[in-house]
Amino acid sequence: MNRSDQGQRKFESPASLIAYFLRGSKWIFLLSMVFASAVSFLDMILPRIISFTVDSVIADKAPDLPASVLACLDAVGGVARLREAPVLIAVIVIAVALAGAVCRYLFRYFNEVAAERFVKRMRDNLFAKIQRLPYAWHGANSTGDIIQRCTSDVETIKVFVSEQLTSLVRVIVLIALAVHFMWGIDSTMTAAASLFIPVVISYSLFFYSRIGNAFEKADTEEGRLSAIAQENLTGVRVVRAFGREQYERERFEKQNEYYTGFWIRLIRILSLNWITGDVMTGLQYLLVNIMGAVFCLRGRITAGQFIAFVSYNSLLIWPVRSLGRVISEMSKAGISLDRLRYIMNAEEETDPQDALTPPMDRDIRFEHVSFSYEDGAGEAVSDVSFEIPAGSTVGILGGTGSGKSTLMYLLEKLYPLGEGQGRIMIGDADLAQISAPYVRSQIGMVLQEPYLFSRSIEENIAITSGRYGREEVQRASKTADLLDTIEKFPSGFETFVGERGVTLSGGQKQRTAIAQMLIRKCPIMIFDDSLSAVDAETDARIRAALRKSTGDATVILIAHRITTIMHADQIIVMEKGRIREKGTHEELLSLCGTYRRIYDLQLAGSEDLAGDAEGREQDEE
Ligand SMILES: Nc1ncnc2c1ncn2[C@@H]1O[C@H](COP(=O)(O)OP(=O)(O)OP(=O)(O)O)[C@@H](O)[C@H]1O
Ligand SMILES: [Mg+2]
Repeated sequence: MNRSDQGQRKFESPASLIAYFLRGSKWIFLLSMVFASAVSFLDMILPRIISFTVDSVIADKAPDLPASVLACLDAVGGVARLREAPVLIAVIVIAVALAGAVCRYLFRYFNEVAAERFVKRMRDNLFAKIQRLPYAWHGANSTGDIIQRCTSDVETIKVFVSEQLTSLVRVIVLIALAVHFMWGIDSTMTAAASLFIPVVISYSLFFYSRIGNAFEKADTEEGRLSAIAQENLTGVRVVRAFGREQYERERFEKQNEYYTGFWIRLIRILSLNWITGDVMTGLQYLLVNIMGAVFCLRGRITAGQFIAFVSYNSLLIWPVRSLGRVISEMSKAGISLDRLRYIMNAEEETDPQDALTPPMDRDIRFEHVSFSYEDGAGEAVSDVSFEIPAGSTVGILGGTGSGKSTLMYLLEKLYPLGEGQGRIMIGDADLAQISAPYVRSQIGMVLQEPYLFSRSIEENIAITSGRYGREEVQRASKTADLLDTIEKFPSGFETFVGERGVTLSGGQKQRTAIAQMLIRKCPIMIFDDSLSAVDAETDARIRAALRKSTGDATVILIAHRITTIMHADQIIVMEKGRIREKGTHEELLSLCGTYRRIYDLQLAGSEDLAGDAEGREQDEE
């Protein structure tokens, strides 16, 4: 079924995104909440046992217990039995504490299991989504920022669901239970003690709205910091080669200092929030204690009830205070959720309905193609029209930035052509109507800057392991003039290519990329400046081997070196996004234009070099 038929899921609110990620772990979360509530309930039992012991076991007030508990007590011999063996009270306390510990364990266990499943689903979904996003999206978003969204924001949301949301439920259950038990002791005191709950909650809500933007800014700054670090790690060669360590370090330190300063300012605001909370709860504690003492002296409540009330109040204070923190930290989660929604709601690369999959061994026709990058200055390609007959070889020559690679990206559908930007035809089919994954499976492209994965050479050439056998890998390597080199490596095809291929030379990397493309045997093959890093002799050898092995394929050769493309059936000379000249080598030479000038220059250059070498040899003699 076509992806566009399913429609792309949009997450209108942060809650809808959480609900989506929660699929599969929702019930385990609920189970953990049940145990969390049981913990809160068991916590409430202990003050009740103490008040009963003080009032009815030590003093002789009639026990004030629920009927079912009284019946159980009577069954074992009533209060008198407890007075004879007070150790029984200790046993009950231990039993309640043990039950609490078991529930706490089960709560933690189920909570962690659910949280890990939740995070796994988040990571899987984000990764899959990012894979489906168009090439242009990747160009417009920095890798560091995307990685930060997928790590630190994912972690924030995990903490939100597994800790903050859980404690929110726990606190609500605890408040409800504590207020219920306190109400049973004295309603006036409960009303006085409860007064501060809405005050603390409103205060934290006010605080939460104030601090929201600051967290968003902190996240952005963290993203910038990781982008600098990431860019430096990726470009470590450039940094070393140009001795830019000092400059890069200063740049990182500046951002780091700004980021740290920002957090310090943020922490100052956070601390102020905590101090205000301390003062509020201190006052409340004082009020409850004074009221309790006065009521106890006047005989309105018993000593046991006073102790129980104060215990309930203490049990209440911290959860209510943490409710403030939970709510304020929820603001962070809201921002992280928005940052993930940015990825999850990004427009995916979609194929038109009933996308075509026509044979690709047909003529390719560019018809008035114009294209500009979103953030680029002006048109990268302007009104380009030309035809590549099926099975022929075309060479494209042109200065840097003349739009050669862009033309190939358009042919690969890495950037779609919009309305009024012309069209590209493959035989009778408009490229816009052809399925993008199909196009890419049929057009092999050796990128101008090949990227190798940190796997073995064999895996790099075969791209997906298991799809091609060793023989095919060897054949492709031979055509790419790489076989001898690989065989000289101690581990041969098993040689591990360092991260991004750092253990290979530029030319070896290019040839690996060529082999990688050749193995796929595509009907259309593009070599984007793919022989620039190999010497002229190797270049000639590869071209000769290619001519033999490409068979009926349509070949597009982009190069700066005339010798690489001069044997092509047709040569296109690009300049500033436009086609300047078009024809065969001989035709272009006779034109006496740009091509001729470049030809003369490169030829003269090689003669000069040859002359220089001769001169040096003579000097040495
Ligand atoms: N991702 C991008 N975003 C914005 N502008 C871009 C992007 N890629 C290329 N450009 C611009 O488009 C123009 C054409 O670039 P292109 O890469 O097609 O040139 P090229 O002919 O392949 O050059 P070279 O020989 O150096 O590889 C240039 O002006 C370049 O600055
Ligand atoms: Mg290029």
